[in-house]
Amino acid sequence: MQIFNKNIDLTEFLTLHKSSNSTIGFVPTMGALHEGHLALMKQSLQENDLTIVSIFVNPTQFNNAEDLEKYPRTLEHDVLKMSTLSEAIIVFAPTVDDMYEGKTLAQSFDFDGLEHQMEGAFRPGHFDGVGTIVKRLFEIVTPTKAYFGEKDFQQLQIVKKLVAKTHLPVEIIGCPIHRESSGLAMSSRNERLNSTERREAAVIYSILKKSKELFQTNEAAFVALWTKNEFEKHPFLKLEYFVIADESTLLPITYKEKSKKYRAFVAVFVNTIRLIDTLSLN
Ligand code: PAF
Repeated sequence: MQIFNKNIDLTEFLTLHKSSNSTIGFVPTMGALHEGHLALMKQSLQENDLTIVSIFVNPTQFNNAEDLEKYPRTLEHDVLKMSTLSEAIIVFAPTVDDMYEGKTLAQSFDFDGLEHQMEGAFRPGHFDGVGTIVKRLFEIVTPTKAYFGEKDFQQLQIVKKLVAKTHLPVEIIGCPIHRESSGLAMSSRNERLNSTERREAAVIYSILKKSKELFQTNEAAFVALWTKNEFEKHPFLKLEYFVIADESTLLPITYKEKSKKYRAFVAVFVNTIRLIDTLSLN
C-alpha cells in the first residue's frame, strides 16, 4: 500500500500513474476509521481506477481546542484496516504545515446560507474550515468522484455547494449512514465513549426513529417539543439542538408541504462527547 505524507510526493505519483482517461475516487477522512469509512472506500474502489484516502485531522474546522486535542489519532490502525480492505488504496496523510503552508487559517466562504444552520450556528467557523481543507484536498488529489457520508448531511450539502461555486470538476457522492447494531451512527468520536455512554448514545437513534413516526401526523413544532422532553429523561444526554429542516435549503420548517423533502438533525452531548445524527423523514 502506498502512503504519502507530502503533497508534492502525491502530486508526482499522480503525474506518473494517472493517464488522461483514468478516474480517481477520493475519500477524505480525519482517520479513526470505521465501517462507514470502509464502505465509502469499497464504493470508490468499485467505481474508479485509483482510490485515494486522506487522513488529516483538520485544525481549522474545530472551534473547541479540547475537541481537537482529544480527536482520536490512530494512523497505524487505520492503515491496517485499509490494507485488509485493499492494498490498492493510496493513502495521503499530510502534516498541518504541508496543508496550510505555515498559515493555519481558514478561508471565508459564502455557501448561500447553508453554513448558518445547525452545525454552523453551534460551531462558529466550522464550515469555513471544512471548505478550506476540502478545496485544498480536491486541488491536490484532482478526484473524478469524492465520497462523503450522509451522517454529516449538512457538510455533504455544503461540499456540493462548494463544488458548484468553485467549478471544481468533481462529482460528489453521498453515501448512507452506517449504524452499530444498537442503531448508534458510526462516528470516529464513538471511540471516546465508555460502555455506559455507548449504551446511552444508542437512545439518540431510537428517539429519531420515533420522531419520524410522529412527524407523519404532526407538525414540526410538536415533534421538536416531544423530542426535547424525551432527551430530558436521559441524564447522560444533553440535547444541543433538534431541528426538522428542508433537505435542500437546510432551513427549519414550520409547516409541511407535500412536495418537499424533510430531515431531522440532532446534536447531543454524551457527557463531554458531542455526537450528531440525522434521519430522512419522508
Ligand atoms: O467529515 C470529515 O471527516 C471531515 O470534515 C473532512 C470532510 C475529512 C474534512 O476535514
